[in-house]
Amino acid sequence: MAGPSGEHVPGRMNRDLGRAAETALSPPIFLSSVYRCDDPAQAAAMLSGESDGYVYQRDRHPNGDLLAAQICELHQADWAVVTGSGMAALSAAVLATVNAGQHVVVSSQLYGKSTHLLTQHAARVGIETSVVDTFDLAAVRESIRPSTRLIVVETLTNPVLRVAPLEELAELARHARVELLVDNTFASPVLCRPLQWQANLVMESLSKVMNGHSDVMLGALCGRGNRLAAMRDVVSSWGLACSPFDAWLGSRGLQTVSLRVERASQNALRIAKHLQQHAAVSRVEYPGLATHVDFNRTQRLFNRGENGELLAGTMVAFELSDGDAATRFIRAGQEIPFCPSLGEVSTTLSHPASTSHRALSAAQRRELGIGDGMIRLSVGTESCERICELMDRMLVAT
Ligand SMILES: Cc1ncc(COP(=O)(O)O)c(C=O)c1O
Repeated sequence: MAGPSGEHVPGRMNRDLGRAAETALSPPIFLSSVYRCDDPAQAAAMLSGESDGYVYQRDRHPNGDLLAAQICELHQADWAVVTGSGMAALSAAVLATVNAGQHVVVSSQLYGKSTHLLTQHAARVGIETSVVDTFDLAAVRESIRPSTRLIVVETLTNPVLRVAPLEELAELARHARVELLVDNTFASPVLCRPLQWQANLVMESLSKVMNGHSDVMLGALCGRGNRLAAMRDVVSSWGLACSPFDAWLGSRGLQTVSLRVERASQNALRIAKHLQQHAAVSRVEYPGLATHVDFNRTQRLFNRGENGELLAGTMVAFELSDGDAATRFIRAGQEIPFCPSLGEVSTTLSHPASTSHRALSAAQRRELGIGDGMIRLSVGTESCERICELMDRMLVAT
């Protein structure tokens, strides 16, 4: 396959590799940054998107296309683009839909970096935003201007796990002729497919539970209708594309996402109920508990598992007496790693007041229901008994 000096010899090599690629059970990784073209006409047709095929990695590559096809299937979407991170997917959504001088309605409970992007960076390029409590539909309606193009919400908020009123927001958006963009990262399509509830655009950070192994940064944006060429153009032109190796890892992660999320959701419900019984825990937030403010909505919008049980998610938040108790809890149990991310195959925990929500004042955190003693669990697929046992041990230290 290689010449005497080690250079690639095309022709025979490509035929052999082609056969290997077709028969390999695990898909190959196409690291090539560029592809050979037959002639100028073919190159021009592929570069303009008139004909299918690969020319330059930033535009398209086979591993990205494979991952995009998996996303389409999971979300029942007509098109999907894969990006180098969840933030790149959000950037792609905004850049594709909003111009300078136009306006975006931003949920007051978005991931902090998303709020930062939409309020600070978007403002620098002339995009205006209103930060609104998107659970207050009248407030959303009032905030819409003639220049509004987009409403941005999360399916499940961090860390108190409110469930967005997707049907009502989609209806409101349709009436106002604006688009509803839903960040579905905390839910994943295993729990909820916002396109089914008439959202226009759905984004995921694949760096979390979708990949599930804390070893890639990836994002995805998907939707219905005929927008693939326009979205690919935005991703390529703004340089938001993902690497083939990350896409390959992401594709492998997606093969088990349903299994992992189903199992972790079952664990999360049992852990939430277990924590409710514990004297050191003053409050538990989990949308699968009848005590949760959005329990009825969760039952309507979220999917069911193989045995018909409600899949209410892999995240649980609970409150200890204060920040010192939270610190003692975290220090007592290094078997459950304290890391400010989520979606790993095994259980991890976070402390919103010192990580994801540290930029807010104590008063703003209180308004969102986030005390200094709040712990957020990202529940994994281990034995539930083992997690409860560890939690009990850690709670003794508080
Ligand atoms: C809800 C949500 N959206 C978007 C992102 C950004 O994703 P990424 O880290 O892949 O850029 C995150 C990251 O934590 C997130 O939690």
